[in-house]
Amino acid sequence: MVGVDQVLERLATVIDPDLKKDIVSMGMIKDLELDSGRLKFTLELTTPACPFNDEIERDVREAVSGIEGVTDLDLSVTAKVMEGRSLEDDMGLKTVKNIIGVASGKGGVGKSTVALNLALALSRTGASVGLLDADIYGPSIPLMLGIKEGFMEVDEEKRKLRPTESNGLHVVSFGFFGEQDIQAAIYRGPIISGILRQFLVDTDWSDLDYLIVDLPPGTGDIPLTLAQTIPITGILVVTTPQQVASSVAVKALGMFKKLNVPILGIIENMSAFECPGCHETHRVFGSGGAERISSEFGIPHLGDIPLNSGIMAGSDSGRPVMLEDPGSPSARAFESAAKNVAAQCSILAARIAAGEEPGAPEAEAQAQEQAAQPQQAGQALGARA
Ligand SMILES: Nc1ncnc2c1ncn2[C@@H]1O[C@H](COP(=O)(O)OP(=O)(O)OP(=O)(O)O)[C@@H](O)[C@H]1O
Ligand SMILES: [Mg+2]
Repeated sequence: MVGVDQVLERLATVIDPDLKKDIVSMGMIKDLELDSGRLKFTLELTTPACPFNDEIERDVREAVSGIEGVTDLDLSVTAKVMEGRSLEDDMGLKTVKNIIGVASGKGGVGKSTVALNLALALSRTGASVGLLDADIYGPSIPLMLGIKEGFMEVDEEKRKLRPTESNGLHVVSFGFFGEQDIQAAIYRGPIISGILRQFLVDTDWSDLDYLIVDLPPGTGDIPLTLAQTIPITGILVVTTPQQVASSVAVKALGMFKKLNVPILGIIENMSAFECPGCHETHRVFGSGGAERISSEFGIPHLGDIPLNSGIMAGSDSGRPVMLEDPGSPSARAFESAAKNVAAQCSILAARIAAGEEPGAPEAEAQAQEQAAQPQQAGQALGARA
């Protein structure tokens, strides 16, 4: 008669394509029961946004179907996001499993647009997501979400800021405080760092799978404070295809690497324009910016977002494309990039769970290996999902 060991042995042949480990040793099989050939268990995936979730489930069903003596399968599929950051010595953000900083070298490359639409895309997969607009000098998230200023509340009992709820996201922005245009202009180093620290640790974020932090451009006080205040999962770099943007992006990358902050990967925004008239793709800003950085630094290229007037109109009118036109090619590009970002978080989380240092050279070697595959195909990882 078939036994549990035999079932686990077969299930251990299923490898998570991102983590490169078998699903049994990764603890993804839960509550397994076997009764007279009737098999029941839960497959607990590492994130609802994994690009390979369907593939893993299919492989699991296939593995089980080959076991002699198993007559019936009752499979539940769930996802529990892994902790992609060390919570030791943390200053009160123990309920936030992953913190992702969205950075760039140059301004205006679309960080805020990317941060917001990625947050919405992750939230649509069922993950619990927060968005911190850390651009204290020029907060743009309120406008992009159509939220008026003055929404920031304080929970007097907990003595914490209460995030605003918007379209399923938990949002904090300096733009909610009012008169920020005048105030922010006169804020400098220590004050700015203090405000960001408060936004991070004095906010009642509740249980979050992902907290996306929209950073101002460059390598100033705010990105530096984020990198040095709390352990974060990693940085996502946004660039545009032009040489001038990508060469400045390299400087931001250099700073985070120096501070030993893991780099999750790079996203190319305003990548190509698909003409609605002739349906041809035009590389208005040239090509290959993210690809060059990806190969030079050995970091994964996680997606390409098209140049699209709908993306711009959505951001400017408070109706981001992920909400306004979820089935559009632009929204699908964000969805694909979001899945790749979540996959990178899971890879780092698995390293933490194994007691390894995520910023260690082996992590970079692994990232390099991952980045190399789509380059050979001449495509971003985003194209596979
Ligand atoms: N893929 C895109 N297609 C068309 N327009 C875009 C795209 N991405 C961003 N934009 C537009 O470009 C402008 C700049 O975008 P955004 O504010 O997101 O950039 P940013 O990098 O956050 O800027 P800053 O450095 O000032 O914070 C906005 O008007 C936005 O709507
Ligand atoms: Mg911005």
